[in-house]
Amino acid sequence: MPVSLFICPLCQSPLQPAADTWRCDGSLHPKQTSHPFDVARQGYVNLLPVQQKKSKAPGDSQESIDARKRFLNHGHYAPLQNLISQKMTELLSNDELIDKQDNKSVNWLDIGCGEGYYTQAMAQMGSDVIDTLIAADISKPAVVELAKVSKLSGRLWYQPCQEDTTKTTAVYPLVTSAAHLPLHPHSVTGISSIFSPILPEAFDNVLMDNGYLVIAKPDVGHLATMRDALFDDVREHDSDKFLQELAPYFTLVETCRVSTELTLSAEDLADLTTMTPYAYRARSEKRQALLAAVEKEAFSTEAKFVVYILQKTSV
Ligand SMILES: C[S@@+](CC[C@H](N)C(=O)[O-])C[C@H]1O[C@@H](n2cnc3c(N)ncnc32)[C@H](O)[C@@H]1O
Ligand SMILES: [Zn+2]
Repeated sequence: MPVSLFICPLCQSPLQPAADTWRCDGSLHPKQTSHPFDVARQGYVNLLPVQQKKSKAPGDSQESIDARKRFLNHGHYAPLQNLISQKMTELLSNDELIDKQDNKSVNWLDIGCGEGYYTQAMAQMGSDVIDTLIAADISKPAVVELAKVSKLSGRLWYQPCQEDTTKTTAVYPLVTSAAHLPLHPHSVTGISSIFSPILPEAFDNVLMDNGYLVIAKPDVGHLATMRDALFDDVREHDSDKFLQELAPYFTLVETCRVSTELTLSAEDLADLTTMTPYAYRARSEKRQALLAAVEKEAFSTEAKFVVYILQKTSV
């Protein structure tokens, strides 16, 4: 791991990872006080101070994480997972950018990583593509889930194989807010935000010059037949609005689209409506009618995604 990647969420002093407790050195604290952060049994670190929490349990609930995990593990969104891995491998094989870093190590931040369906695919790309993968989410149950899977695959940041010559990508699962990233300015090579918050200034701050930003969003027409069944008046996804907010900091390099036909069982459809905001906005009788219909016959719909690749504009 590069020196000085993490900073304390309380006083912004350098934060040193260690097996039991991470500690900041307190150098930027008015009283030079050092802050400790315990490593949880599952291997994640909670770097979200209470004062940065807007609710008792911020982010996705255990219920939506469980639904998303079941749905994604059935492979329905595999074409998007493959596209993201392929594009990131292409970007990070760009020697020109990587050579500009002193220590040549690639640090990637996956913000709003959830339970890590896309994050695990990034880790599987290997340490010759990404050395350090920071998997960050404001939801504690999501990060717990991600840490468990990373541990099983031997990729957790403190696991012994990280010391071997056959090094794997080291995954750091962190509970943190996208608005207060516990990372040194200019320390990360790239950020991915897959259906997750986009904070132009916070991302610009932690990215190195010319660093990458990969964003995935639902495209126009995403799950159209499902939304038709749930709503009287279907509003389209406003896919591009955030690009204007990113424009002062980032240049759009590439836009890629991928779509896939889905044939869903009753269980899949129930999970899909639970893991998306539709579940909460749809009228309950419409949701019940849709779920009753799919008990008789599998439901067909099309998932449509758009992936934006941006690069930090050099100053
Ligand atoms: C739609 S989910 C996407 C999860 C994952 N990237 C995926 O596609 O499977 C959005 C995630 O963003 C997280 N999130 C929401 N607000 C956040 C914030 N301010 N900082 C960090 N994560 C946040 C939620 O807890 C949730 O896990
Ligand atoms: Zn501190």
